[in-house]
Amino acid sequence: MSEIALLPAVETFLAKPQRLFIGGSWQDATHGRRFAVENPATATVFNEVAEGDEADVDAAVAAARAAFEGPWRGESPARRSVLLYRLAELIEAHNEELAQLITLENGKPIGNARGEAASAANIVRYFAGWPTKIEGSTLPVSPASGAPMLNYTLREPVGVCALIVPWNFPLNMCVWKLGPVLATGCTAVLKPAEQTPLVAVRLVQLIEQAGFPAGVVNLVTGLGLRTGAPLAAHADVDKIAFTGSTQVGRLIAQAATGNMKKVSLELGGKSPNIILPDADIVRAAKGAADGIFYNQGQVCTAASRLYVHESVLDQVLEELRRHARSHVIGAGLNSTTTLGPLVSERQLATVNGYLERGVAEGAELIAGGKRPDHLEQGHFVEPTVFLDRAERACVAREEIFGPVLTVMSWSDVDELAVRANDSPYGLAAGLWTRDLRSAHRLAAQLKAGSVWINCWNVVDPASPFGGYKQSGWGREMGKHVIDAYTETKSVYVDLA
Ligand code: NAI
Ligand code: MG
Repeated sequence: MSEIALLPAVETFLAKPQRLFIGGSWQDATHGRRFAVENPATATVFNEVAEGDEADVDAAVAAARAAFEGPWRGESPARRSVLLYRLAELIEAHNEELAQLITLENGKPIGNARGEAASAANIVRYFAGWPTKIEGSTLPVSPASGAPMLNYTLREPVGVCALIVPWNFPLNMCVWKLGPVLATGCTAVLKPAEQTPLVAVRLVQLIEQAGFPAGVVNLVTGLGLRTGAPLAAHADVDKIAFTGSTQVGRLIAQAATGNMKKVSLELGGKSPNIILPDADIVRAAKGAADGIFYNQGQVCTAASRLYVHESVLDQVLEELRRHARSHVIGAGLNSTTTLGPLVSERQLATVNGYLERGVAEGAELIAGGKRPDHLEQGHFVEPTVFLDRAERACVAREEIFGPVLTVMSWSDVDELAVRANDSPYGLAAGLWTRDLRSAHRLAAQLKAGSVWINCWNVVDPASPFGGYKQSGWGREMGKHVIDAYTETKSVYVDLA
């Protein structure tokens, strides 16, 4: 195992505690508090970050408001585009640095972290193209008076946006939201997850370096209750965008009613993945394994329920066993690692709880199911596969957010969509087949925001992403997200 060396830039960054960024200045929290950041591979603290509270949230919202009503409003769409392209370049130029911070605080394998940083640059670049393409329309109105009337629409930025993001893709989740904020001319207060604030701090430094005016992006690091909750309830925030648990999503929606702020939510999932008997079984099984084990299963779109046609069940289980065993589990900074630790002791405890309950409720353990023998510290768990013929165990129904797959078999294609849709969630679904008719029929029947046919976890900034049912409200990415960050104004001109 070869541990990669930290870049000097990363060592320098980590030598100091991190601060809040409000109105263009880096500062300590008003009440001087800090919280610790832990490396999940070793369970040791390696940096400290300012812990903002309501006072800091107030200051950050005021700075975002001042920038929104002031200098940012005066910047042309072309200028916003230039700044976003510059940011994309900076993210690209600092790929390794950002990736190392992601791996240090989140735990994921360094190759995946580099992929995340590369994707962040692409997403920002996609949104850099938007400012000059957000347009209204002229509409053929018919006033009863018969007066000649011109009607047109203006698309205006919604205003100050609160962005509350999780730890599973700590850089990407920031730019998924900052991209449309900056493209539309909104301003933001960003609150990263308390487990992974560092890459967000580094990103905001790059935003400052790119030349965005003071107050356009503000960063308040801190905890859910003390920082996130006052931001969600703030009366001068116009829109909140949240990614995280369905439980907190519900709280955010409630908090938003105070001033009727606009809300978009990307929440949990228990996504069904279906293998039809005519599929390329080797490829489908590999896709199923990657769909659940990628990012240690800590993905809202994790392919956590697998429905396999009974005629190919044994073959698929054998392939899944092989994939689970082939993972190299270890610290993300080891370049040979393919499966890192879970993000926190709490997340590991949640996953371990499911492993125990899965067995107790009669699911059959096919692979994994415990801590890897060779790792004594860190929040590690083996990639795990259950078979649950009755489809009643909690592991078949509840979001686990860990590398735990539950397999069910099926024989009646008419029941398949009903079973796949029998979940409070509707984020993603997938199917593996060579038959066009089954593919498109099922794609239409599945209640999910994304359907993947012969693939999984393909996400592109040009295409909408979001959930049905309790998986959320609204869509991110593509032209759909531009709607979520703009108001449409209808202007009537009496030409008589
Ligand atoms: P969480 O939903 O509590 O945390 C997400 C973000 O919300 C963090 O920035 C957190 O500080 C903030 N937050 C927490 N409580 C808040 C409140 N009352 N008001 C405003 N902001 C608040 O998720 P957590 O506790 O880290 O993970 C628990 C479960 O949530 C996971 O096991 C998983 O099932 C799910 N989850 C889903 C994610 C997704 O991508 N959809 C991402 C992370 C977690
Ligand atoms: Mg929580």
